This record gives sequence, structure tokens and C-alpha cells, in this order.
Amino acid sequence: MGLTAAVVPAAGRGERLGPGAPKALRLIGGVPMLVHAVRALASARSIDLVVIAAPEDAVAEVTRLLADHGLVESGPGHAATLVVSGGDTRQDSVARALVALPYDVDVVLVHDAARPLVPTALVDAVSAAVRAGAAAVVPGLAVSDTVKSVDRDETVTATLDRSALRAIQTPQGFRREVLYEAHAVADPDAPATDDAGLVEALGRPVTVIPGHEEAFKVTRPFDLTVAEAILAKRRAAGVVS
Ligand code: CTP
Ligand code: MG
Repeated sequence: MGLTAAVVPAAGRGERLGPGAPKALRLIGGVPMLVHAVRALASARSIDLVVIAAPEDAVAEVTRLLADHGLVESGPGHAATLVVSGGDTRQDSVARALVALPYDVDVVLVHDAARPLVPTALVDAVSAAVRAGAAAVVPGLAVSDTVKSVDRDETVTATLDRSALRAIQTPQGFRREVLYEAHAVADPDAPATDDAGLVEALGRPVTVIPGHEEAFKVTRPFDLTVAEAILAKRRAAGVVS
């Protein structure tokens, strides 16, 4: 069996969060979002290596930050990390991290830095589903709102069948060769918002497993409030992060 690596796209600006530092460096409970995310991945039993795609102008800062939190070298119960420079789109950032993976990695998970509170158990569940034979695995949740499509004038064109919809999260897990092929043929001018989308474009099956509410993406200021509350609850329960 080969190694399992986690790739963390963390090079976004966080425009929807509003002015401030790049999103991955914004604090939750006094700790940068990226550190929370990397710690969750690095401490998952299934993960051997974590590769982070940092904002181009923050590679040194991110490396220092991980060192300050004891997350560079592997240690008891946690994997080693490596920082590379990200790109202009999420797809490009992931592609740059993939290039840095050692040859003996055969399973790759891709996880947004913007999902800092992902439970370690979800990380291991995704890895296990790929190891069990799936080419591509994504965590998904049932949708609770009614979802409608609209035209350019915001006139409703259809109400979608909610029972057939899933809100997809990360980490998404892949056989290495499948993810590499998907990125190799991807169109850089029409970048995808997730990696499974590229695999779907190849015509390969993508399997959904149950996601977790705490793997939500911090996108807008409201999400930061939710993240702070979850973290405070974890700390009060004695769960360190
Ligand atoms: N990402 C990246 N490189 C980019 C753009 C995004 O690595 N050029 C990463 C983000 O850092 C984030 C993940 O992709 O961890 C999901 O993207 P998103 O939530 O859209 O984050 P941002 O692009 O930072 O936010 P916004 O779109 O509001 O600017
Ligand atoms: Mg974005």
C-alpha cells in the first residue's frame, strides 16, 4: 500500500469575507484557519503527508506559522507538512500542490483551508472509502432549503428535486492517477470549484459518503461567527485545537 497525502488549497483572498488578511490566515479562536485545517488533517491516522498551497506572497509566513504550531516535521500522532506556492484559481493551486507529491503517494485527499473545523473522523472516512476501491469520494449533506434555478432577471425557471441534491464538502478523496488525469485535461480558462467536478468531466464515477455539518466552508462573516461558537464549545468540552 502506498502513502496517503492531503493537499490543502489555501491561496484564496477571501473576498466574500471582506477586507483583511488572506482567508486562510484569518483567526478562529486566536488560531489561523489554516492551522486548524492542517492540524485536523495531519492528526488523522490515514494521512502521511500534508501539502499546502499558500498565497504566493505568504509562503514564508505560512511555513513559519506551521513551525510555530509544531506542524512541519512528522511527530507522534501527526504527519509532516510541506508548503508550495498557490496559483490564481483554486484549480491551479491544487495542480501546483499535486506536482510536489512524492511518487509513493497513491491516494490523495483535497481539503479546503476554508473548512477549518473538519472532524478528523471524516478525513479518515474519505481515505477509507478510496482504499476500499472507489476512484473518487466526496462527503455530501442533504439540502435543507428548497433550491430553484433562475434566469438573468431573477425569474424562477425551475424548482429542483431536493431529494436528489447533495451539498458537497471536502475533503474529497481520489486514486492518485485519477486526480492527475483529471487535472491534466482540465481547462485552465474554465476552472472548476471542486476536484470531483474534474473527475466527473472524465466520465468517471464519483461516490458520495455522509458529510458532517462541522466540515462547512467559512465563506462569509456569518460563517466566522459559527466557527467561533463551535470552537468555543469544543474547548469547553476539553477538545484541544
Ligand atoms: N483557493 C486557492 N487558490 C485560489 C483560490 C482559492 O487555494 N486562487 C482556496 C481557498 O484558499 C479556499 C478554497 O480554495 O481554501 C475554497 O475557495 P473559496 O472558499 O472560494 O476561498 P477564497 O477564494 O479565498 O474566497 P473568495 O472566493 O470569497 O475570495
Ligand atoms: Mg474563491
